[in-house]
Amino acid sequence: MEIKSASFVISNTDVKKCPAPDRHEYAFIGRSNVGKSSLINMLTNYSKLAKTSASPGKTQLINHFLINNEWYLVDLPGYGYARTSKSQRGQFSSMIKNYILKRENMVCLFVLIDSRHDPLKIDLDFMEWLGENGVPFVMVFTKADKLTTTERMNCIAKYQEKMKDTWESMPMAFITSAETKLGRVELLSYISELNKL
Ligand code: GTP
Ligand code: MG
Repeated sequence: MEIKSASFVISNTDVKKCPAPDRHEYAFIGRSNVGKSSLINMLTNYSKLAKTSASPGKTQLINHFLINNEWYLVDLPGYGYARTSKSQRGQFSSMIKNYILKRENMVCLFVLIDSRHDPLKIDLDFMEWLGENGVPFVMVFTKADKLTTTERMNCIAKYQEKMKDTWESMPMAFITSAETKLGRVELLSYISELNKL
């Protein structure tokens, strides 16, 4: 799919105030600093569309972007990081939960996972929660430019090993890099297929 246009629409704290749910929507979620905003910029080829930062906790709101005048990409705040309260760390904020459970036009959630780490409980717990709630999602491994080819294969295998007892089948997985644009064609083709449904 060619990206002809991409523009910021609105930021919200409340799912009720998001744009009318009259278009397909794809949202990016994952731990703080995993590379959600960077991946949105990489996919759209607009380097400053979503705000990125080297320090975690940059994205704090539900951000809607309109792509090709046709569908929405949504940049969400990360989980697993709280600047002020230790007790909030590791929890998924009610804003994120509400968005995920109530946004009726959200076709697929992209769960971003840092490919450099062994499977983390917080990511496994989050995906389990998605499964329990019947939320459609795929896994997207990020920052693959930091890995060798073997390490890339291993990162998926490690998750498969951890998830095989709880999951009947593994969710689809993509390997990406915002630096090298690895996975861009595959992710956009996947969205394009879903847009036809
Ligand atoms: P929050 O909004 O804070 O939750 O973070 P985020 O998930 O949106 O991450 P963001 O896109 O802001 O990126 C965090 C840091 O990781 C930045 O310093 C990026 O430059 C870096 N980064 C993101 N993607 C990649 C990648 O594919 N490769 C490399 N090497 N660095 C990346
Ligand atoms: Mg962000």
